[in-house]
Amino acid sequence: MKNDIKVGLIGFGTVGASAVKIINENNAKVSRRAGGKIIVKWIADKDITTSRGIKIDKKILTTDAYRIINDPEIDIVVELIGGVEPAHKFIIDALNNGKHVVTANKAVLAKYWEEIMETAKKNGVDVYIEASVGAGIPVIQALHDGLAANNIKSIYGIVNGTTNYILTRMLEDKKDFAEVLKDAQKKGYAEADPSTDLEGKDAGNKLAILSSIAFDTVVDLKDVYVEGISRITRKDMLNARELGYVIKLLAIAKAADGELDVRVHPALISCEHQLAAVDDVYNAVYFVGDAVGPVMFYGQGAGGASAASAVVSDIIYISRNIINGIAGRVPSVFFEKGKSKIKIKPIDEIKFRYFLRFIVLDKPGVFAKIAGVLAKYGISISSVDQKEQDSGSKVPVIITTDEAKEKEMRKALAEIDKLSVTKEKTLALRIEKGE
Ligand code: HSE
Repeated sequence: MKNDIKVGLIGFGTVGASAVKIINENNAKVSRRAGGKIIVKWIADKDITTSRGIKIDKKILTTDAYRIINDPEIDIVVELIGGVEPAHKFIIDALNNGKHVVTANKAVLAKYWEEIMETAKKNGVDVYIEASVGAGIPVIQALHDGLAANNIKSIYGIVNGTTNYILTRMLEDKKDFAEVLKDAQKKGYAEADPSTDLEGKDAGNKLAILSSIAFDTVVDLKDVYVEGISRITRKDMLNARELGYVIKLLAIAKAADGELDVRVHPALISCEHQLAAVDDVYNAVYFVGDAVGPVMFYGQGAGGASAASAVVSDIIYISRNIINGIAGRVPSVFFEKGKSKIKIKPIDEIKFRYFLRFIVLDKPGVFAKIAGVLAKYGISISSVDQKEQDSGSKVPVIITTDEAKEKEMRKALAEIDKLSVTKEKTLALRIEKGE
């Protein structure tokens, strides 16, 4: 019977280095839990000279990922390079070579979910993906196994650490966007291309993964409506706070009348909601199941050590299966090829309450003009606030509305933005109840 497990890591960045550190430092415990010794046989990276601050035998370093993928002794391939290619090819080739795979790669999973799950099944191997959403928060396993009995009604997630850190620090430290982003990059939270975080794509990928599991379907990034945080200012956050809300980048999925509403965008959520207290790099996913009701998972959603916690746990899980001779027998996610896709509900058809920030000339009749256009599209105003300004003739006017269809709101704002009194493109944020 096999009693040691050989692992090869592709990608020796922040997460890879932290994973090796955990395996080395906690080796006795990790191996006891796995039921056999876990040995890191190879580490592949383009850069094998820069020190990662951990002790390793230099002989295990290689620049060739195929040293791992084609090595008959390797049991588990851990893919941690990020990005779509060549990560996708490495994963597929490893699965086809009979290797079990652990990956944190949300972009590849969101894009190639069916292909990856199908290739794993065909080859009788496991693919474990816990680190792909919420880093070390065990949200995938909890959703997949712990909540398996439920029809999931909705998911509300704060699943991008970089943007949550930026929003929190802009508000609390009065720092500007660029400065806080630099900080997040230094701390290893941001993606190689931080626009992936800022524009909501990273959260979109994570939502696609959660929704595919929660709703037994296949959702990919192109199904998810995505907006980022780049237009949010500290003033918007202060205005929202005065109204009793916080602004968060929310990843939302809801099952509604046989359709699926899946979207990522900045939104106002009540200060009373559990998600409102999720700050900095912390992530949280709030699920509502028909039997269990609301459940929330919370923890550090980015950073090497947190993601490595999930990666090493996945390695332990697979190792235990290998050692007990049951690896690959039970797929790690429910998946049936050709499962019918749930129709995605177009955002235009969804009704929201809105927080609108107009920048307009401060002169008589301006408010009447805005209110007139809103009324023309059947949009009812819920509150209005205009702060006194000392300087210039431009003023922000904050309006919240009752529920209106997105389609009508877009038409109204297009018309308002064309008025000569409107001085900047209007910011429209959706207000969410989170239930
Ligand atoms: N860039 C990601 C984030 C890292 O900020 O959440 C974790 O997936």
